[in-house]
Order: sequence, then C-alpha cells, then structure tokens
Amino acid sequence: MEKAIEVRNLTKIYKGGSVAVNDVSFCVSKGEIFGFLGPNGAGKSTTIKVLIGLLRPTRGRLFLNGVNIVKHPEQIKHNTGYAAQETAIDDRLTCLENIYLQGHFYHLPRKEIKKRSEDVLKMFDLFDKRNNLSNTFSGGMLKRLDIAEALIHRPKILFLDEPTLGLDVQTRQAIWEYIRNLRYQNEMTIFLTTHYMEEADALCDRIAIIDQGRIKTIDTPENLKQQIGGDIITVSFSEISNGKVQKTLEKVKQISQVKEISLDKNKIYRIVVNQRGDKIIPEIFSISQKNETNINSIRLQRPSLEDVYLHFTGRTIQEEEENRENLIKTRIMKRRLRR
Ligand SMILES: Nc1ncnc2c1ncn2[C@@H]1O[C@H](COP(=O)(O)OP(=O)(O)O)[C@@H](O)[C@H]1O
Ligand SMILES: [Mg+2]
Repeated sequence: MEKAIEVRNLTKIYKGGSVAVNDVSFCVSKGEIFGFLGPNGAGKSTTIKVLIGLLRPTRGRLFLNGVNIVKHPEQIKHNTGYAAQETAIDDRLTCLENIYLQGHFYHLPRKEIKKRSEDVLKMFDLFDKRNNLSNTFSGGMLKRLDIAEALIHRPKILFLDEPTLGLDVQTRQAIWEYIRNLRYQNEMTIFLTTHYMEEADALCDRIAIIDQGRIKTIDTPENLKQQIGGDIITVSFSEISNGKVQKTLEKVKQISQVKEISLDKNKIYRIVVNQRGDKIIPEIFSISQKNETNINSIRLQRPSLEDVYLHFTGRTIQEEEENRENLIKTRIMKRRLRR
C-alpha cells in the first residue's frame, strides 16, 4: 500500500515545556480514513497542526505522499486540505463569498474558482443556499461549508479536526456520509480526530487511540474489539427454574468457547465467550431445555470501542468529555442568540 502520511517519532513540546505529542509514529495509506481517538488534551490537534505546517515539530520525521515536509514545508499547502476544530467561516459573508475567498487564498483563476465552488457546494448539498448569509446557517451546515472550503484546491489529503464536535446525532451521521463519499468519489486520504467512539467506529478504517501525547494502540475497529475478547452473552432465568440453574450453568461452562460466567446484582448472568456468541446461543438453549430451566431473556453483546478505550487507557472517555461537551453547546447557543 502506498503511504499518504508517514509520521516517525514525532514529538511536540510547546514553549513553556508542555509535551503535547510524545514520540508518535504511524502511517496512513492512500485512500484510507484514519482516525485519532482520544480525550481533550491528548495531542490530536497538535498532531494535525504539525502535519499541515501550522506548527514546527520539536523532533521527528514527517512525510506527505513521500515528500519530507519538515525539509519542504512549501509542499504542504497545495496537497492538503484542513478543516479546523472551530469552523473558520466569516458569518458576514454569503456561502459563496466564503468559498470564493478560499479560492483566492490558493491563487486559483477566477473561472476555476466559480466552477469548483459550484462542484463542492453541490457535493455538500449547499448549492441552493449559496447566496444566503452564512450567519443563517445551522451548526451542521456551517461544518459542511467549512469542509467544502477545505476542498477548493482539490487536495489529496484532507485533515478534519473533530468534524462533528458539538453537533447532534443526526447531523453527525449526515456529515459521516459526506466524508465517506469524499473518499469513494475522490479517492482522498482522510485523517480525522474525534473523541466520539461511534464516529471512530463508523467512519474509520483504522484508529489510533491517543492519550496524553502517546499512541496506545493502532488497528481496525474490528480488530481492536477482537483483541480485548469475544462476545458477551447475558442470560436471565425465570424464578421457577431456581433450583436447576446451577446445573445448567455447569454444563454451559463446559462449552469450550466459554471463558467465564459471572452473576450481576440484577440476577443476570454474563457469559464471556472467546468468539462469536451467536454461534453459542443455540447450545445454551438446548442445554437449558435438557435441564428444564426456562430462559427469560438472552442477549448478545459485542465488545464496543468503549470497552477497548477503557482497556487501553484505564478510563472512560465519556466522563472526561461530558463537561466539555456542555461548554461547547452553551457556546453554540450563545452565538445563535447573539444573531
Ligand atoms: N499553544 C499551546 N501552548 C502550550 N500548550 C498547548 C498549546 N496548545 C495545546 N497545548 C497543550 O498540549 C496538549 C495537547 O493539546 P491538543 O493537541 O490541543 O489536544 P487535543 O486536540 O487532543 O484536545 C494539551 O495539554 C494542551 O493544553
Ligand atoms: Mg483538539
């Protein structure tokens, strides 16, 4: 696989000594959607800013499409697109004016700007709104415009820093669809950062979990979940079976794929298996039948990226992010009220 991004031993220490990125190495293949998943302060934005030439690395070697960008930073601008964590849209301008401005920034000919603006606005379903002032746009539309702007010079690699931060679930999913289309239709390489598990899971071919400036693990979402164990089957039995449940569980334990069985406080048994649980459920049913125990309910749970994150960092991302999320929502609300 050809490499679009190659990062070798990147360290970024800010003035004042804060180590934001600590000896990070990874590669992204051409056409891949690659995600940095991690909490606030993990070093995600810093990594992007170094890769698009906004910051100088303290140490490390960086290549974009094989070009050493520490030696040749002038090569970055025309090959990369960047949508920052906070959208960079002038809300006194119309949608089209905003995008034209971006075209001029890349010194594109006027005719070309017009054509390309139409193309990207259509791609992001904003063409009908092209003459509206962007201060009338919703959060999701602003984000779409921001990403569209980043594409005006047809970059090969797109950097998206928290592309759906603070947006509601539906809007978030719509943006995922635009991002997927970009990859399929334009064979673009996309590097994104997020602290949303579902986003990383739904969108990324591979994920790096980053915490306190260090990469904890890199793999496909599927492999990451596999690594930490197989499926979990939860079962509850009806009251009348009480006397017979133990015997049934003894037998279930003898199934070779069953790793462990535990009981939670709601009288639900958690059966951890070391492979696909859907194959084992029928066996559990037949054992129960033979032992005359009645199953009340049975559920199959696949390990989530949440479990993976917990496994690698010892913390859940949710707790850390909830406060920040509220802060951003309040900020968006305030901005709307000001208009
Ligand atoms: N301009 C800066 N000067 C000093 N420290 C910074 C600066 N920007 C970020 N940091 C620090 O670097 C660390 C990583 O920040 P950042 O890359 O923004 O993380 P993330 O994007 O994952 O939230 C944090 O501890 C942050 O406080
Ligand atoms: Mg950030």
